[in-house]
Formats: sequence, structure tokens, C-alpha cells
Amino acid sequence: MKFLISIINGPNLNLLGRREKIIYGTFSLDEICERLKIEFGKFCDLEFFQSNSEGSIIDYVHSSKSDGFVMNLGAYSHTSYAIRDAICAVSRPVVEVHISNVLNRENFRHVSIIAPVCIGYVVGFREFGYNLGILALLDHMLNLG
Ligand code: DQA
Repeated sequence: MKFLISIINGPNLNLLGRREKIIYGTFSLDEICERLKIEFGKFCDLEFFQSNSEGSIIDYVHSSKSDGFVMNLGAYSHTSYAIRDAICAVSRPVVEVHISNVLNRENFRHVSIIAPVCIGYVVGFREFGYNLGILALLDHMLNLG
């Protein structure tokens, strides 16, 4: 049996590859997702979801059949108690990912509302953070199995 993992991206991440390239790199979100499918397709099933809206992300989390989530919630990581509550409500493992190193940026990015309800937090490794997030989730789920 293969685990199903959802990769959730929040607001403004649809602009990857065009947005502040010095900070977020040159890969588009589609390119990142394609690479993840190639690299992890043998080991797990992946589903991809991006939305700029908090409510849509919450609805997706509620209805998802995934075994676990890798989430880059963009600025919602620093603000959204509602997404945090949704994560707690579905009781499935989550790894929070940020492309940039939020800890050496503005103060408001140093706080994550989401990280305390995640199994872990990956920041600063550019798009490779998604790979690390998937690996960490698989390791976590296999150890529980
Ligand atoms: C980000 C970091 C957030 O602070 C920011 O609001 C983003 C992108 C990252 O991946 O580095 O939109 O989540």
C-alpha cells in the first residue's frame, strides 16, 4: 500500500519563479510539483493543492483523504489560527515547509502559528524543502505502521 501525501501551497506561491526570485528562486510551482512526482512517485502518491484563500485551504484539509500533509502556507503560517484548528481537527501528520529561511527575515516571519501542531518544520532549503518534508512524513508514517 502506498501512502497518499498532499502538498498544500498557500497564498502567492502560485507566483513562484516570477516573484522575488532572489528570495524564492526561479522554479515555478508547476516545475516543483513535476519534480516531486518524478522523485517520489515510486514511493507514495502525491496530490497537489494551491490556493490564495484561507477558507479554501481549510475546506481542502477537511475533505482530503491524504495520510499526511506537507504545507507551505505562505503568510498564513504567521497568522492563521483557523488553519491550525483545521489541522488539529483532522489529526493527521503535517510538516511545515518554507522555501526561504524565515528566521533570518523580518520579525513577523519568525513566528509560526502552525509549527506547534506539526511533526516538524523545514525552512531555508529553497524548493528542496518539499523533498525534505515528504521524506520526514514518510519516515514518520512508516515508524507508526
Ligand atoms: C514563505 C515565507 C512566508 O513568510 C511568505 O509569506 C511566503 C513564502 C516561504 O516559502 O519562504 O509567502 O512561506
